[in-house]
Amino acid sequence: MICLTLGGRTLESCKASVVKNREYIDICELRVDLLDQKEQKRAKEFPSMVDIPVILTLRRVQDGGKCDLPERARRDILIRALDGDFAYIDLEDDIKKNDVEIKARERGVKIIRSMHDFEKVPDDIFSKIFHLSSRGDVAKIAVKLRSFSDVLTLFRIQEELAGVDKIVIGMGEFGICTRILYKRLGSILTFASDDEVAPGQIPPKALKQLYRADKVDERTAIYGIIGNPVMHSASPVMHNRGFQAINFNAVYVPFLVDNVRSFFSFAEQIKMRGFSVTVPFKVDVLSYLGNITREVKQIGSCNTVVRVPGMWKGINTDYYGFIHPLLKDIEEGRIKSALVIGAGGASKAIVWALRNYGVKVTILNRTLSHAEKIAKLNVCSYDTLDNANKYSGQVDLVVQTTSVGLYPNIEENPVEGFVFTGKEIAYDIIYKPHMTKFLKQAHKAGCCLHFGSEMLLEQGKLQFEAFSGYHYPYWVDSGMSDTQQEQA
Ligand code: ATR
Repeated sequence: MICLTLGGRTLESCKASVVKNREYIDICELRVDLLDQKEQKRAKEFPSMVDIPVILTLRRVQDGGKCDLPERARRDILIRALDGDFAYIDLEDDIKKNDVEIKARERGVKIIRSMHDFEKVPDDIFSKIFHLSSRGDVAKIAVKLRSFSDVLTLFRIQEELAGVDKIVIGMGEFGICTRILYKRLGSILTFASDDEVAPGQIPPKALKQLYRADKVDERTAIYGIIGNPVMHSASPVMHNRGFQAINFNAVYVPFLVDNVRSFFSFAEQIKMRGFSVTVPFKVDVLSYLGNITREVKQIGSCNTVVRVPGMWKGINTDYYGFIHPLLKDIEEGRIKSALVIGAGGASKAIVWALRNYGVKVTILNRTLSHAEKIAKLNVCSYDTLDNANKYSGQVDLVVQTTSVGLYPNIEENPVEGFVFTGKEIAYDIIYKPHMTKFLKQAHKAGCCLHFGSEMLLEQGKLQFEAFSGYHYPYWVDSGMSDTQQEQA
């Protein structure tokens, strides 16, 4: 079930949220502590105002809520609310059996016994859940995940406590994957919210339509992307839409990772079939791969990992993604020389790709020694960024591979001094924003442009093939055009 947490101050605004999200949700939670005082007294009316089951919650300040009333007064509000037809009531673990619980039982309202830890995952989490379940119908535990290794702990819960009705929530950014894959944790529901009532909550529409979280079953193949940060990635939209279009029982999840080793353990544990790799892990993953392609070996970085019998295999689709939009111009002789700005991981793949197609390359970089290293490997020339202008009018292609100009620093351009003549093809691998400062300058001079979103789309299509064995469905909007609109 997808449960909408209601953060409105009035019953009417809570009802409006339910109506707005109705097609994405199965149940909702009325957070009485977030209602205005006058409205709190009317809480019992809410279940009859909506057509889905409602959880009654009056969260105390120490559990992350707003209720700071003495316990007696809090109980009075709950008792009064229980005149309404709530499906569940959330009672904290430390609340002893009292008149609220008795009334809930009489009214046939199921009891969720909850416990929150905003600091960490408790060492004895399994026994805590077991204890909570003995005191109610459903055990609920919400814990703060401080590292990716905590995700592993949460995914072991179902193995340890298969028969227990429970709600398990991993709070914070590391926990986002636990909210999407809640069924794999054995959780009966996941909380969603329109306005992030709790950190890491995802909008109900994304849970239902993008991730199809409620459809994940034991046969669902799990894919994803690892990075830090990762939530900005456009890949989940692209891959999930693709899977859905070809009726492939799979989900693609963003994983915020701080430690590649624990992610590989996790990937083995939940039998992942493959994942994308983004900054800063494209090199770190190499030591966990049993098999790598020629590109990965040569470039020394890997952006795609797939499961093959007995091991993980590393592929680099950035290489093909980058070169694809240029192939026609290279083949028809319009690109014979190139200036590559930057000498980081992306530059390494790009220089190698261009050299493979016989393009003469000069690498320009702030730190000369970094450029020198890549140049030596690929037999090309190099220079410092300060000399950029020397190359004006001398090259057919200028590729920008640094992170300078990336959102939010959209007013930056690493080669401000370079004068475009209008004859060059300009290519920026940054896709956020769509039109970078670098590309704007090239455009002004009349240059032909290539965008980071083109590379992103091409490398994504190749990943999709590596993951699923199918071509990316041509009739699907990969979402890259949304990326352009929102990021332009
Ligand atoms: P990636 O692996 O994604 O390419 P990276 O390895 O951090 O990222 O490389 C970043 C590139 O951007 C490098 O070429 C870096 O120049 P240095 O080698 O001199 O560090 C370049 N870069 C980063 N910030 C820069 C800035 N403010 N001005 C110019 N170049 C910059």
